[in-house]
Amino acid sequence: MKIQRWLRSTAVAAGLCLAVGLGNLPARAAEAGPAAGKRLIVGFSQIGAESAWRTAETESIRSEAVKRGVRLRFTDAQQKQENQIKAIRTFIAQKVSAIILAPVVETGWEPVLKEAKAAQIPVILVDRGVSVSDDSLYVTLIASDFVAEGRMAAEWLAKKLNGKGSIVELQGTVGSAPAIDRKKGFEQGLAAAPGLKITRSESGDFTRAGGKQVMEAFLKAAKGEGAKIEAVYAHNDDMALGAIQAIQEAGLKPGSDIIVVSIDAVKAAFEAMVAGTLNCTVECSPLLGPAAFDAVEKAVAGTPLPKQTIVEDRLFDQTTARDAIGSRKY
Ligand code: AHR
Repeated sequence: MKIQRWLRSTAVAAGLCLAVGLGNLPARAAEAGPAAGKRLIVGFSQIGAESAWRTAETESIRSEAVKRGVRLRFTDAQQKQENQIKAIRTFIAQKVSAIILAPVVETGWEPVLKEAKAAQIPVILVDRGVSVSDDSLYVTLIASDFVAEGRMAAEWLAKKLNGKGSIVELQGTVGSAPAIDRKKGFEQGLAAAPGLKITRSESGDFTRAGGKQVMEAFLKAAKGEGAKIEAVYAHNDDMALGAIQAIQEAGLKPGSDIIVVSIDAVKAAFEAMVAGTLNCTVECSPLLGPAAFDAVEKAVAGTPLPKQTIVEDRLFDQTTARDAIGSRKY
């Protein structure tokens, strides 16, 4: 009798364990994996949520942390470098295993990165680089080649406009690596087409509202001067989408009256290309979670890493958007 009762209660307990286990599969699988008994604690200092791209990057890092059973300390700096510096100092005080940093601007990181190095906490840079005199202050950088992206956009536009016309430029956040490099790459690409000129260039801070506001001002100024704008080059899709709105509100047709080219390749950009309002976007993948945590695990284990891993990017335009839209992941 006693044995029967024991058998019954054991079976119920086993069933319960199975149910709980299946319900929490990723976390439990991670606990049973290499991190078992010693889960990594990683601080992630994110810039903010200025664009759809940025939100996709945050999601990629967060979901990869869950998959691997890593405890992630996430901070959103609201676009401010001082908030990122504060967050890094907090991570150091908390003695995290590693820090993932997406730096808002290129300069001003030396002191805090020296503090992380002195505390023997590896720093992995994702998406944007920093300008430091000693590159041992970070372990590795995982990012796209922003100069190449700008060049690809310019070469596509030069063909589209037959090498002639006036372009307005919507720059990203002042001092950020993508704003600096996408400008540089675009100018390099235009060097082969001297008939193409950037007539106005201002920052829209990588936001849709910023892109719209700056484009409204550009259109107004051009109208006042009786000048024509043939194309807009936006350093990201969100600003291009804002510019498209401004062009429509000015009674013009984006995509034909004014050609619109941008960078990122987010879902909304594909929708705009299918609708005919955006002409072209150069991909910049935000899906950096898997590579970032591979780097974290290697850095913590003391395995050497390359100083930089470049993410491959492609270009999409209205001729390829419809086929590609269904398989886009962000
Ligand atoms: O650093 C990558 C850039 O930052 C993306 O192009 C942009 O959308 C983001 O905010």
